[in-house]
Amino acid sequence: APSKFTLNTGATIPAGPGRRRPARSARPVVHALKAGYRHLDCALIYQNEEEVGDAIKQSGVPREEIFITSKAWNVFHHNVQESLEKTLKDLQVDYLDLFLVHWPVRLVANGSQPLLPVNPNGTRSVDYSWNQEDTWRQMEEIYKSGKVKAIGVSNWSIPYLERLEKSWKVVPAINQVELHPYLPQHKLKEWCESRGILLEAYCPLGSTGPCCLHMQHHVPRSDLFTLTYLTYPGAPLLEDTEIQAIAAKYAVPPATILISYQVNRGVIVLPKSVTASRIEQNLKVIDIKEEDMKTLEAIAENGKQKRVNMPKWGSDLGFDDWPLPSCRNE
Ligand code: A2P
Repeated sequence: APSKFTLNTGATIPAGPGRRRPARSARPVVHALKAGYRHLDCALIYQNEEEVGDAIKQSGVPREEIFITSKAWNVFHHNVQESLEKTLKDLQVDYLDLFLVHWPVRLVANGSQPLLPVNPNGTRSVDYSWNQEDTWRQMEEIYKSGKVKAIGVSNWSIPYLERLEKSWKVVPAINQVELHPYLPQHKLKEWCESRGILLEAYCPLGSTGPCCLHMQHHVPRSDLFTLTYLTYPGAPLLEDTEIQAIAAKYAVPPATILISYQVNRGVIVLPKSVTASRIEQNLKVIDIKEEDMKTLEAIAENGKQKRVNMPKWGSDLGFDDWPLPSCRNE
């Protein structure tokens, strides 16, 4: 399996695994960097970029050897630069390798809820009139400034991308979405690849718990309440008999199959773990034979297609193409 892919900018990106949503404290991130991870997938909303910055320093790994991604948070669509500046300061770096628009949705902050604003009735405070083209224009300016070496998007479905395509001058390098055998997103992958956009897989193992656990210390309880994620109890993918059968054939854990599946189909993979032994285990990527790739690509067709991880605020937004088609339990 390849260890690197080439972005439409000409730069290379580690195929994976990348260290997604690095943990709250510096320690596991230092551990991951020392174990060999070279891609840190960060975001302002993870509220841990200061700790990640410290971890980079502590690890002793030179900045230029690490591929650092971060994402502009939803309340910054009118001023993407502000999101980037906070991220650069917290990470203690002077450029990013990749900067993504976290969601194709603008939230309107207020004084007491600067990051995760909600309306009095509990719905998210969304600016429905916001034009994503205006966000992307700012991303293009930032790209030109050299502060970020590539720009891309996250959680964008085909309808959103089709709209953006009419006016983009810089083609996104990446679209980071939920991807695993229960949500292979074949159509989105084909659409993106035909335009030179690579996909990144989040939740490649099928998350087993609330995504926001890492933020509990920093997010007010009232906000956490509305940030409930619709998650699967247990680990359906790790327990799937078809996936287990393939894992047995290669004598590897099911997680290795799920991680290698993405790299073998040309997708950058971003598993997350806070457990030292799994951080290490997840570094292993193997070649998967074509016949087994065919099985993995078709597993969702047996009535198993499911999104395992979806912020509730996505489903609170009551307009037609939301949840984004790529996010829907099709
Ligand atoms: P933990 O953090 O305790 O290791 P995803 O990347 O799909 O969101 O999955 C993350 C979840 O999968 C976490 O709950 C993580 O638990 C668990 N996990 C990570 N790596 C492995 C592994 N190699 N085997 C089993 N479970 C894993």
